[in-house]
Amino acid sequence: MKVVETSTFERMERMYAPQQRIYDLTRAWYLLGRDRLLDGIAARPGETLVDVGCGTGRNLDRVARLYPRTRLCGIDPSRAMLKTAGRRLVLEDVRLLHGVAEDLPVMLAHGAITPPDHILFSYSLSIMPDPLGAIEAALGVLPAGGWLHVVDFGPMDRLPRWFAAGMGSWLERFDVRHRPQVAERLAALPQTSLVRPFGGYCELIHLRNRG
Ligand SMILES: C[S@@+](CC[C@H](N)C(=O)[O-])C[C@H]1O[C@@H](n2cnc3c(N)ncnc32)[C@H](O)[C@@H]1O
Repeated sequence: MKVVETSTFERMERMYAPQQRIYDLTRAWYLLGRDRLLDGIAARPGETLVDVGCGTGRNLDRVARLYPRTRLCGIDPSRAMLKTAGRRLVLEDVRLLHGVAEDLPVMLAHGAITPPDHILFSYSLSIMPDPLGAIEAALGVLPAGGWLHVVDFGPMDRLPRWFAAGMGSWLERFDVRHRPQVAERLAALPQTSLVRPFGGYCELIHLRNRG
């Protein structure tokens, strides 16, 4: 039997290209906690923020308004998502790169990105086959004093069981699931804050790299 491997690039393009018109509208109701995480970033003018899995640029747009004069970069494997982000962020000073989280060290080595003061993952780790690999890649390029910010699905452990089970099965259809290993890995590091609002629907993590 021939095994056909589909790359993340192909998979994400196939998933997101047909959704561009409806993406933001449909995600507004269930990608909860994003604004709360962004409000807590406290980026200063001149600092650099890299949004890994930036999608349609919804978060970069908000970051640009919240923290003027920050230098922004978005990375995503879907060209359709990046095209939408480019249209939305036309007035902002944002760099958009076609790539995956795992390649952050290569991007840094080749000068495609500069050492970031902030790295953001917003509902992107839950769709990645190797979220821990992505986290290690991010930690590898984060300088001492830099911040990692994560918002994603949580354990939903304080919500009615029928709701958590239904939501879990629905997300599975898109290869999306809560990744407990992410919080476990990051909570083991000093200077990590972790909260799980909305009955554990989502988790918000801020981590300062002590170097
Ligand atoms: C659910 S969307 C979230 C988009 C955006 N961050 C938001 O909060 O609206 C997940 C995004 O992660 C991207 N993605 C998937 N695998 C990735 C990887 N290995 N590295 C970087 N981004 C990835 C997808 O292309 C998609 O744009």
